[in-house]
Formats: sequence, structure tokens, C-alpha cells
Amino acid sequence: MQEVESKSEAPIHVPYASVASVQAQSLLDLHYDVGGNLYKMWASPRSVIRAILLGWARSGHPAQLHYGWDLKHAASLDAAIRETACRAVRLLQLENVPGAKVFEPGCGIGGATTVAARLLPQARIIGMSLVASQMATAHARAEAMGIGNVDFRVCNYLSTPFAAEEIDGVFAIESLCYTPQGERDALFREMSRILRPGGRLVILDGCTKRTARDGQEAAYVSDVLAGWTFPLPCTSDQLKVHATAAGLELLQQEEVTHQVYESARRIAQIGRYLLQPLAWLARIPGLGGMLKPLGFGSAGHARCFIAACVSQLSVFDRGLGGYYLHVFRKPDAVPGLRTSW
Ligand SMILES: C[S@@+](CC[C@H](N)C(=O)[O-])C[C@H]1O[C@@H](n2cnc3c(N)ncnc32)[C@H](O)[C@@H]1O
Repeated sequence: MQEVESKSEAPIHVPYASVASVQAQSLLDLHYDVGGNLYKMWASPRSVIRAILLGWARSGHPAQLHYGWDLKHAASLDAAIRETACRAVRLLQLENVPGAKVFEPGCGIGGATTVAARLLPQARIIGMSLVASQMATAHARAEAMGIGNVDFRVCNYLSTPFAAEEIDGVFAIESLCYTPQGERDALFREMSRILRPGGRLVILDGCTKRTARDGQEAAYVSDVLAGWTFPLPCTSDQLKVHATAAGLELLQQEEVTHQVYESARRIAQIGRYLLQPLAWLARIPGLGGMLKPLGFGSAGHARCFIAACVSQLSVFDRGLGGYYLHVFRKPDAVPGLRTSW
């Protein structure tokens, strides 16, 4: 960790200042490659066991690295996790658009991408991540599921290979928050550039609500940033400013923390009662090697990951951060208005 944010009353440590930096790439590789299998625990028990035994591709595990929607009333944790992605995709309103091109920046191992592919069978869904191993897993998983209308690319979503106005809709779940403050204008300019007029950008993400008031609160926030490897998110209103400055119009801005809160509690429980004991076992000579493939290849990383799982709940409880839905639309073309940047 390098930088200390000065805006907070208590210092918050952020992991990197540019997502294009070597520092960011190595942290993301450590998190999603060496430690990536820790996410196998984020599913219903049956899917966890199947993913451990059969691997990501053939397990039926949701393979989605985000909160679940309304877990209290969902049929299962798997169903709640899938529902979050379904909601984002439905908000694109592309069901009746033949041959639509949908972009998912920061698609992880492609779980939400395949949800989108099934909801929009007439569309092509392009997922993107900076982490090469994630794209290999995503590709193998989609192939094993017999899903053909997806592509996965290793690329930085701040500078995509898409032509201007090539994309009909963008959905991003807990991925744009990886963009540091200094690169957020560039991010929204790129989303605006690639969207066709009338196309929507749907974002589900954590946002900052207020600054930390003391060392304890700063530690909760720092735990989440360090353990889940992203910079301090902006507020919902700052996000709106970035997006509208890039020419997008706001359709919806809503705090939905209450919808994901039960799943946040579940994450904290998984951290405390499953990952923590496994991390202790991983330190025992002989057992460590056996647990390495489960994401415990770096003891330091696993420790930070578990701290993030536990502290994210305190971030919600203290009102330091919240979970937000934003829907933006690229306005219909106005004669004389520049549409590429
Ligand atoms: C928490 S995961 C979310 C994955 C996915 N949206 C999901 O819900 O399952 C964040 C993802 O964003 C990716 N990411 C972060 N910054 C990125 C960037 N600048 N370009 C491409 N991918 C990025 C990470 O590699 C990771 O795959």
C-alpha cells in the first residue's frame, strides 16, 4: 500500500494510484490469480463443494464476485447472487434488440457474463478483465456450459478496443470501483464513447458515504480496500458528476444497501467461521500445500482477504459506505455534438 488519502479525518490506505500501474497489476494478479479460489466459498454449500472437487468450469457454481440480492427471501445464496446480475442486465432493456452487443467491464471469471448471455440469447456479451487467468477460467466455464454468445478479453476497460458507439449496453457489478480517483473521468469518457446513443450504463457498486472519524473506522475501510484490492470509492454524487461530465444522463440513482445487507452478513460469517479456520490450518506444515489450491497460496493475502470479508459489514453498519445502483443513458445524437473523445 502506497498512498494515504488526505481527505479523510483519519488516514485511509489505498492500494494503488493508477490501475495501469505495475503495482495495480501485480496486486490484482495476486488477488484474483493466487488468491482467486477463495471466491469458491462464495456460493451455496453444494456449489462450494462441487467447485472444490470439479473446478470452476463444471461445477455449476455462480462464479460471481459480488453481493447477493435480498438473501433473506431468496431460495438460496446461489439464487441471490444470480439475482443481482439479472437485475443489472434487465435494466439494460435490450431484450428486443436483435444482435445487441453488451459489454461487462471487469467481469471477473465471467459468472455474470453467462447470466447475461442466457437472459439475452440474441446478444453478444463481451467480458473484460485485467487478469489473464480470470479470462481463461471464464472462457473454459462458458464453453463447459455450452454458452456461445460470449467473448472474454484481457484488457484495461479504461481504453477498450471498441469502436465509437459500437456497444448497445454496459453493465458493471463491483468493478468500476477499481478505478482510482484520477482516472474516473477517463473511465466515464470511455464508457460514453463506446455506447451507442440511447444505450444504457448500469452500475452496481459500493460508494463512500462519509469520511472515517477515528482510527477504528479508518481501519475498517482500509481493511476492505487492502483485502479486496481497490482504491477508495467516490460518493454516489461524485460518480454522477463524472458520468454526466462525460455526456451521460442519469436515469436512476438509488442506495440499495438494504437489498445486499443479508449477503454482506453472510460474507462476514464465511470470513470468520470458514476462511479464518482454514487460514490457520494452512499454516500447519503439510496442510499448507493441500490448502494452497483453495486460494491460500499467500498467507498474507489470505489474512487481508479475511479481514476485508469481516470489515465490510462494519463499513455498512457505521454508514461509512453503501451499495448503490446507478443507471445512465447516452442521449440520442444531437447534430453537431462530438460523439467520440
Ligand atoms: C470484484 S471483481 C467483479 C467481477 C464481476 N463483475 C462479478 O461481479 O463477478 C472486479 C473485476 O474487475 C476487474 N478490473 C478491475 N479494474 C479493471 C480494469 N481497469 N480493466 C479491466 N478489468 C478490471 C478485476 O480484474 C476483476 O475481474
